[in-house]
Amino acid sequence: MRVLILGSGGREHALAWKLAQSPHATRVLAAPGSDGMAREAQCFPAVAAGDADAVLALARREQVDLVVVGPEDPLVAGIADRLRDAGLAVFGPSRAAAQLEGSKSFAKEFMQRHAIPTAAFAVFDTLEAARAYVRKLGGPCVVKADGLAAGKGVAVCDGPADAERALGEIMGERRFGAAGARVVVEERLVGQEVSYYAISDGHSIVPLAGAQDHKRALDGDRGENTGGMGAYSPALVFTPAIEKRVLEEIVYPAIRGMDAEGAPFRGVLFVGLMIEANGTPKVVEFNVRFGDPETQVLMLRLEGDLLPLLDAAARGRLEGVAAPEWHGAAVCVALASGGYPRAYATGKVIAGLAEAERDPDVLVFHAGTRRDDAGRFVSAGGRVLGVTARGATVAEAQRRAYAACAQISFEAMQLRRDIAARGVLA
Ligand code: AMP
Ligand code: GLY
Repeated sequence: MRVLILGSGGREHALAWKLAQSPHATRVLAAPGSDGMAREAQCFPAVAAGDADAVLALARREQVDLVVVGPEDPLVAGIADRLRDAGLAVFGPSRAAAQLEGSKSFAKEFMQRHAIPTAAFAVFDTLEAARAYVRKLGGPCVVKADGLAAGKGVAVCDGPADAERALGEIMGERRFGAAGARVVVEERLVGQEVSYYAISDGHSIVPLAGAQDHKRALDGDRGENTGGMGAYSPALVFTPAIEKRVLEEIVYPAIRGMDAEGAPFRGVLFVGLMIEANGTPKVVEFNVRFGDPETQVLMLRLEGDLLPLLDAAARGRLEGVAAPEWHGAAVCVALASGGYPRAYATGKVIAGLAEAERDPDVLVFHAGTRRDDAGRFVSAGGRVLGVTARGATVAEAQRRAYAACAQISFEAMQLRRDIAARGVLA
C-alpha cells in the first residue's frame, strides 16, 4: 500500500516513522514533508499540505492508496471532501465534521445539544458585548478566538482585567486574524488536562490512549500557551475508570451526534479533557487530528501496525477492529527556539542529533528544521525538535529523553525541565 502523509511537523514525522514500519506499506510519501522526515518518507516539498489540487495530482501520479491528513487547517478547509470526491481513501474528517475544531462556538453548541460535559460558555460577535460580559462575571474565565489560531488563540484569565486585555488582542487588534471575529468566553475549569484519542469511521470507534501535554512555555505551567512543549503517556491521573467514562459520556455521544447531524466523523477524534479533582472528565476542546507532541509519544508506545487501523477508518470498515496494545511509557521533550511562542530567530545550526539518537529507545522527531547548503540541520520554526524516548515506566522514559536532550544544542534553545513530572510517582 502507498501512503501519503500531509504535513511537515513533528506529528507527521512520528506518523511517518510508524507507518514506514508497517509490513503493508510499500511506500511512504509526504507532502510537503521535511528534510528531517526524509529518512522515513519520500518528500515532495513543492506540494503544500493545504493545496488540494497539487495533492490530488501527486496522489494520482504516485498511485497513492491512502492519504493521511496531519494538520487541522486543510481539514477545516475541506481537503478530505475534495480527495474523497476524487475517489481516494482519506484518513481525516470532512469539512463539516472538522467544524468540531474549526469553530469553538460550533463545538460548544454541539456539546450542549448532545449533553456532553464541558465548561459553561457564552459566544460574542462584538468586543463591547464580550467586555461587558467578562466585567459582569468579575472572576476567572477563559477567552478563546472562535477560529483556528494554532493552539494560541486562548487566554486563561484570572479576572476581568486579563480578560479585557485578551479580548482587545483577539477581537480588537485581530492578533489571530479572522479567527478572532467571534469569541467564546468560558468558565475556567480546574484540574489536570489529558489528551485522549479515538479513531472512528463515522460509526464505529477504536479507542486509542491518553497522553498529557504541557501547553505553557515555562516550567511549573507558567508563561504563555504554546502548541505544546512536551508530552508523556500514560498519564497517572487518567485511570481506566476515567477512560471508561470518557468513552461513554464523551466519545460515543460525539461520534453518534455528528452522525445524527449528517456529518459523520471519519478520522481521529482528539478530546482535550480537564479531569476535575473529583475525577469528573470535562471537554476543554475537540480537535480533529492527532495531537502534537502527543502523537510522538503515542507512536513510540503503539504496539503493532497503525496502517490497517487508519485504512479501515478511511474506508468505513472499522467495525470489529480490535483496539491496539500499548508498550510501557514514552516521553517527548520539545526543543524550541528562544522567544517561542512569540517572535524567534531561525537558521541556528543544530548540534548533537546523531549522539542523541545513539540510544535505540530515543527518536528525535523534527518539528521545524531544514538542511542548510552545507547539509547541516538548522532551526526553521518555533518548535524545532521533539526528543522522544520510551521506557518501561514514565520515569525511565523521562530519564532517557532528558539524557538525549543534553546531547543537543543550538543557539537560544528553549526547553522545559519538568516534562512528565506529574506522571512520575513521587
Ligand atoms: P484550547 O485551544 O481550547 O485547548 O485551549 C488551550 C488551553 O487553554 C487548554 O489546553 C487549557 O490549558 C486552557 N483552557 C482552555 N479552556 C479552558 C477552560 N475552560 N478552563 C481552564 N483552562 C482552559
Ligand atoms: N498538543 C496539542 C495539540 O496538538 O493541539
